[in-house]
Amino acid sequence: MAETELLNKIDQAKIPNHIAIIMDGNGRWAKKLGHIRIFGHRQGVRTVKNVVETAAELGVKYLTLYAFSTENWSRPQAEVNALMELLVDSIRKETPSLMENSIKLEAIGDLENLPGNCNKTLKETINTTRNNNRMTLVLALNYSARWDLTRAMRNLATEACSGNIEPENITEKDIRKNLSTAAYPDPDLLIRTSGEYRISNFLLWEIAYSEIHITPVLWPDFETDDFYNAIIDYQKRERRFGKTSEQLIHS
Ligand code: IPE
Ligand code: IPE
Ligand code: MG
Repeated sequence: MAETELLNKIDQAKIPNHIAIIMDGNGRWAKKLGHIRIFGHRQGVRTVKNVVETAAELGVKYLTLYAFSTENWSRPQAEVNALMELLVDSIRKETPSLMENSIKLEAIGDLENLPGNCNKTLKETINTTRNNNRMTLVLALNYSARWDLTRAMRNLATEACSGNIEPENITEKDIRKNLSTAAYPDPDLLIRTSGEYRISNFLLWEIAYSEIHITPVLWPDFETDDFYNAIIDYQKRERRFGKTSEQLIHS
């Protein structure tokens, strides 16, 4: 179906407020074309740019992209280096476009342990874009959900040891407050490309009630129409949050 036709099928009143994406398949995309994996990552950056701009146009308020996991450090050193370089270059190059589109950049993950220039560029763009308010783009970098949950538990244990909080009084809210995603609503829609049916240590706490859309399309091939289709799929779902269908109709 043509892009405009798909766009017409999207209910503007039901745009997901927060979309999270596991951008997967760059390596396989490159391999299929007989190129090295890094070529796929470069192409993947184009998809990122398009998805970010399309999300902002649609009125999505938060877009969280899984760009580098804690586990990705165990890839070949040359690939890790290339990914870090690509990250610095892309952030630098895209800062003017983030400003034009009034997109605020933020990041979650163990940022202090990223290469120095990466962390520096990231912080600069975060600072430059801090007053933008059309959409918040959250990059998950050197992120894993278990890392984040461990950190939150450590913080709470410290609070308990210093007598600021009683263990029996710890609530879900306290846990949430200590996660790096504390400032964001939970994702409404989680998209994974490349057809893998797994979460790969992404947002384990936050996706408790997210709708999941998995597409076989590899990330570099993920075009505007694929993104529209993910939203159309999401809009067909009945989000029950544990209730019955009848309860929802009558509420
Ligand atoms: C996703 O593509 C990008 C990152 C994880 C950084 P992959 O590099 O995982 O590509 P595949 O899964 O090997 O095809
Ligand atoms: C998930 O993709 C991480 C990112 C998209 C950054 P991976 O390619 O690392 O996930 P696995 O290893 O296939 O689970
Ligand atoms: Mg992968």
